[in-house]
Amino acid sequence: MRVAVARETREGETRVALVPELVGKLTGLGWDVAVEPGAGRAALHADEEYTQAGALVLDEPWAGADVVVSVNPLDAGVVRRLPAGTATVSFLPTASSLELVADLRDCGVTSFAMELVPRISRAQSMDALSSQSLVSGYRCAVVAAGLLRRFFPLNMTAAGTVPPAQVVVLGAGVAGLQAIATARRLGAVVKAYDVRAAAAEEIRSMGATAIELDLETLEGSGGYAREMTEDRALRQREMLTPYIAAADALITTAAVPGRRAPLLVTTDMVEQMGPGSVVVDLAAESGGNVEGAQPGQVVRIGRAQVWGGANVPAQMPGPASRLYAQNVVSLLTLMTGSTDAGPAFAPDFDDEIVAGSCVTHDGEVRHGPTRDALQGGAT
Ligand code: NAI
Repeated sequence: MRVAVARETREGETRVALVPELVGKLTGLGWDVAVEPGAGRAALHADEEYTQAGALVLDEPWAGADVVVSVNPLDAGVVRRLPAGTATVSFLPTASSLELVADLRDCGVTSFAMELVPRISRAQSMDALSSQSLVSGYRCAVVAAGLLRRFFPLNMTAAGTVPPAQVVVLGAGVAGLQAIATARRLGAVVKAYDVRAAAAEEIRSMGATAIELDLETLEGSGGYAREMTEDRALRQREMLTPYIAAADALITTAAVPGRRAPLLVTTDMVEQMGPGSVVVDLAAESGGNVEGAQPGQVVRIGRAQVWGGANVPAQMPGPASRLYAQNVVSLLTLMTGSTDAGPAFAPDFDDEIVAGSCVTHDGEVRHGPTRDALQGGAT
């Protein structure tokens, strides 16, 4: 029973799917661990750390592996060399990876997508969306504090008092709440808004003020938000404008699953912010909450510096890899069974977590929306 850890090939990726510290958890379950040379380098883990932890470092570690784990999907060239029956565990954004899903299906590979792990209590330790959002949220607050040329906290000194920074956070899911908590720890005064009713209490529990707008709330299924109508979006923007104009730093983290990020802030709104103000848009890569934000760049809009996030968890590869690896190990633990001959890789497709996260298996696409999309495009 072997798990292979692939080296990431996506440009700018620094994370690794298994950290040396967690190798022992898998070997303890009976797994051999084979790591591609250099897999952990960008996350500051040398090959020797993996060997000291009990792993093998092998070129093409997937040869002979039951499971290949990675952060991003494997390259199509690697997928096509996998023997049928091999499994992969990674993030797999199916909507934008239909050709790769077709390859996985046609090669008989069993693929599991970390973002499809159901967000039920039993799967909390496998929830990579939450673990990576936690890293992103922290990073957003620290970036805002770093770009802002003033203190976050109130400072009372013999030379006088410097007032605290005013921070506004839009979107209070996992990332937004972590951004609030981090900005509060640095001493900023934080106000936050989210379309879900339940978020107001969570915002307050982090020590921030919940911005209450006279608008209907937008709960969708599974604790997520629903999309706004254009009319509601317009009214929300009008009502948020004075809060944003008064903010030293604005952090946006809003998302609606499966959709382009909602546009919450127009350039007109940013232009009303004061000199030296800062905007951090975590959603820049998925369409942007802030009009004009560019992923991976800082642009100037009016008097504000606008920072657009691009693969933000990769900006903190140590903790992001550590948490992601724990998510992967938890999922593999669930899929490790025992036979008379000893432990075996035995995913139970009757288990809601296994079935929910499975994209392809046995030459079929198991994930309904992806199957429909593939049939629509006849790939
Ligand atoms: P997400 O990344 O999909 O969205 C981020 C936030 O943006 C959400 O809070 C959403 O309500 C908000 N948003 C969407 N449209 C908006 C708009 N127009 N204006 C302002 N805010 C907007 O969400 P995330 O962080 O992945 O999770 C959201 C919720 O999912 C959690 O608060 C929780 O209820 C549920 N969840 C449950 C978990 C579990 O049970 N294991 C784990 C994680 C999340």
